[in-house]
Formats: sequence, structure tokens, C-alpha cells
Amino acid sequence: MITTIRSAPNIAFVKYWGNRMNDYRLPMASSTSMTLDEPYVDVSVENAEEFTVHSYDENKSEIELQEKDVSRIQNHLKLCQQYLSSIGADLALSGDLTITIESHIPKSIGLASSAAIFSALAKAYAENIKEEITLDDRQISIMSRLGSGSAARSIFGGFGAIDEGEGEGLDSSWGFQIADEHHWELHDIIIVPSIEEKKVGSTEGHALAHTSPQFADRIKAIRSYRFQDCIDAINQKDFEKLQVVSEDDCMNMHQVMQTQEPSLKYLNDTTYKIIQDIKEIRSRDHLPVLFTMDAGPTVHLFCEKEALETVRTYAHEQSDCQIFEAKAGRGAHILEN
Ligand code: DP6
Repeated sequence: MITTIRSAPNIAFVKYWGNRMNDYRLPMASSTSMTLDEPYVDVSVENAEEFTVHSYDENKSEIELQEKDVSRIQNHLKLCQQYLSSIGADLALSGDLTITIESHIPKSIGLASSAAIFSALAKAYAENIKEEITLDDRQISIMSRLGSGSAARSIFGGFGAIDEGEGEGLDSSWGFQIADEHHWELHDIIIVPSIEEKKVGSTEGHALAHTSPQFADRIKAIRSYRFQDCIDAINQKDFEKLQVVSEDDCMNMHQVMQTQEPSLKYLNDTTYKIIQDIKEIRSRDHLPVLFTMDAGPTVHLFCEKEALETVRTYAHEQSDCQIFEAKAGRGAHILEN
């Protein structure tokens, strides 16, 4: 039986940065995000004679996978098997699978595809073994996290979160849904200033976050108020509250990144200019728009409908930038043929 799952990236408001345990991607602190409706990946899993992975771009041309990408997928599969045996489903998931990844995420978009890929894989594994065991979304989010920390949020449509949990077990942290994709109409206008591939990936960055002198204070702030403030802002659809908490958190994460050893500087001059412009537009026109950036110079401008035209026009005025748009999506789901 072939199962195909479609999944998309999510963009965090309170960001995940730093692990308490790297092997299982157990985060130091909780996080929140919106799952996008596009761009997406389609991942198919089928029982086979041996383990193989093939990856294609949106034009169906095969992408040559690097050795490290294949080992990450294989290592994730092993961790999923270990997790399944810890819940009494030994041998439910075969290690001999044909995995096909069809990515509709343009390489130039500056959006990490790992959250989409690992959430889709985890859900495809759950479908593959459903005759032996039924997994709930929390269990599927745990399996997603074992491949990419933020993937635990892409299982859910709309607004998702990761509860940091406690302990050092495979199941010690999981995702949950704050509100579905119909709850609040937010648009994400994505401005991509450069198409350079980022030099240091998140996995290496997370492992060294603790070397920043600002890391402990960041964790304290998330635990004591930021995570809850963000959930409240989403539940109450309070844009101003969401703006304050997410911009504070984003800039704080970049401070940690810049002060960790070695320093990670993901933002560039264009990013800083856009931040400044958005602050000015906001104070001039009082529009509901906020900025946030992940591990790269790409700026996400989240806005409510009333700000959309102004934000869209502003984005298209930026020279040498690519612009994409997204809304809240459904989360990882089965693709019906
Ligand atoms: C800055 O989930 O990409 O985007 O577990 O190594 O795949 P890995 O890390 P990843 O880290 C996300 C970092 C971030 C913030 C966020 O999405 O919360």
C-alpha cells in the first residue's frame, strides 16, 4: 500500500532554539507557530525489499540527495521504530521502505523544508502501520520531532505549539494544536532577500545555543510569560499582543544566535531595512503587521486582511527580492488520489 502525505512548513512566533538533548531533539523551551498552506511537499512511503529514498523537485526532476540527507532520514526511521517499540508496536514499521519526496518548495524561498518533510514522513509511517496500531496526533508529532524539532508543529493545521515537556525519553516533548486554520485569517507575505544557502544549519546551531550568555534568560522569558502570552494572543485574536511577543522573541533569538560560539549571523542589511520600514509603516498607518525571521535573512510579514494590500505593495517594491504568499494551512494530511 502506498500512502502519500502532503505537508507544509510552519513559521514560529515563539521560536524553538536550543535543545536539552540533541539526539532526540528535545527542546529547552516550548514554541508556537502557524502552519502554512503552501508551499508543500508530498511524501510517499511503500513497503519494499530494501530502504531507498528518491527526491524530486516541482518539475519532477530528480534531486541528487547528499549522503547526510539520506542518513538523517534513515536515522529518523530508526528512532521512529524505537519509539513504536516503546509503545508496544515492535516491528510494526519496516526498515525496508521506498520513500519518495516530491518537493514543491522552491530552493530559493529560504524556507526550510525539513519541518514539512519530517511531519509528512511521520504521518506516512503512522498510516503505513495503522492496521497494527492507531497513533494519535500527539504520537505522530513525537515521531515528527525525532526528525526535525519544528516538524512536531506541522502535524497540526492552523496554529500549533510544542510543549517542551520534561525528561529525556523519546516521548518527552510533543506538539499540540492551539486553534485550527479557520480560527484567524492571517497572511504571511514572505520577502526573500538573498538566495544564498545558509552556511550553518539549525541542527548545528541548536547544539551550541547554550554557549550564548543570553540563552538562560531567553529560556526563562519563554517559560515565565512569552509562551503563554502568545497562546493567549492567538486564542483572543489579539494582533497587537501577537506582534509584541513574536517580534521580541524573534529579535531575542537572533541575539542568542549572534552571541553563541561560533556566532551565527543570519540577518543581513536588507532584513534590517525591512524591519525599520515595517516599524515606520506601522506607526504611520496603524496597520496590523508584524515581522519575524528564522535561521536566514528571509522576512515573514504576518498581517491581518486590512493590512494585506499595503504589505503586499511594500513587498513588491523591494528590489532584488523574491516574494511569496501563504495563509494558514491544514497541517500534514493524507492526499486522496
Ligand atoms: C529558527 O526544526 O529546523 O526556525 O531539528 O535541526 O531540524 P532541526 O531544527 P529546526 O529548527 C527551527 C529553528 C527556527 C525556529 C523555529 O522554527 O521554531
